[in-house]
Amino acid sequence: MIKISKVLQSKIDTVDFNNIPFGKVFSDHMFFAEYTDGSWQNMEIKPLEKLNIHPANLAWHYGQSIFEGMKATKHFDGSPMLMRPDMHIKRLNASATRMCMPEFPEDVFIEAIEELVKLEADWIPKGKGSALYIRPIMFASDEFIGVRPSDNYIFIIMTLPVSLYYSKPLSLKAEESYIRAANGGTGEAKTAGNYAASLHPWKLAKAEGYDQIMWLDAIERKYVQEAGTMNIFFVIDNTVITPAADGSILKGITRRSILEILKVKGYVVEERPISIDEVVQAHKNGKLTEVFGTGTAAVVINVKDFGYKGEKYGLEVDSYKVAPFIKQYINDLRDGSEEDTFGWMTKLELQTATAQKL
Ligand code: COI
Repeated sequence: MIKISKVLQSKIDTVDFNNIPFGKVFSDHMFFAEYTDGSWQNMEIKPLEKLNIHPANLAWHYGQSIFEGMKATKHFDGSPMLMRPDMHIKRLNASATRMCMPEFPEDVFIEAIEELVKLEADWIPKGKGSALYIRPIMFASDEFIGVRPSDNYIFIIMTLPVSLYYSKPLSLKAEESYIRAANGGTGEAKTAGNYAASLHPWKLAKAEGYDQIMWLDAIERKYVQEAGTMNIFFVIDNTVITPAADGSILKGITRRSILEILKVKGYVVEERPISIDEVVQAHKNGKLTEVFGTGTAAVVINVKDFGYKGEKYGLEVDSYKVAPFIKQYINDLRDGSEEDTFGWMTKLELQTATAQKL
């Protein structure tokens, strides 16, 4: 049983749930754990608070920092719902291994998320597309200057009520100079440095009028990898194609779910290398009918155009079919209006301490 210390006074009345900016509003509590002497200790749910951190904190200097992104939603009967928490702890631990950090116990992760979400149930916004975003983060906490793995770590789970991450379709720049990740690097890990490295090219792309970057591979700048901080899908000649998880792209859980849903629904789906030349050619032949990004925060967001070698290629977002179908399907799973035939959803009972598998 995780120890729970509650706030004396909730901040919830100060929040305008009709107007929630993404990433800025935090709920009352957090889960906190420390790794020291080779094990996770001092685990508790307590009021969200600032941390007292030494300037030599190892994570700040050498980047041992990983995170996850998940969402809790409300079933139409009012119960909180989680989607595939088991996949998130597996990915967190894969990121931990890559970044030479300790794994976090799967059962404690699930218990911590369930207890925290039940405690913060009133913070889950209603309405399709809105959710309580769950942000687990693990980082090195040794006070030490010098490159080596930390002996101590902090693991926190915080939650934020959110609405849409992107409010309108995106314009992508196929990036020919900078890369997001190279094979053998850290692209598959959800680690802070991958996001830091994307900021400068993103800033340059925004100055050119784009919203986000279409990342190309590190060696040939030929194969498409991701869209900004999301996985990317193309619909070409009625086939749904997404770049294969080759070690350099993030293995998105939304990406995986979409592939599984589309296969069951009878779509032709391919996970394979897809070159920017193939995408451009398909556009020229009129066969490229959709491009969309997917991720936990964004769920599914349409791409309205992309630029490559100085040319802009426009897309008819109003005639997209796969992207709206899949977005609706995921949102419907999340509020219980679509039957959970995949067994992905955990419905939390607020009255009892145990979660019930749907
Ligand atoms: C997510 O989609 O959950 C992410 O972690 C991406 C981040 C830019 C919000």
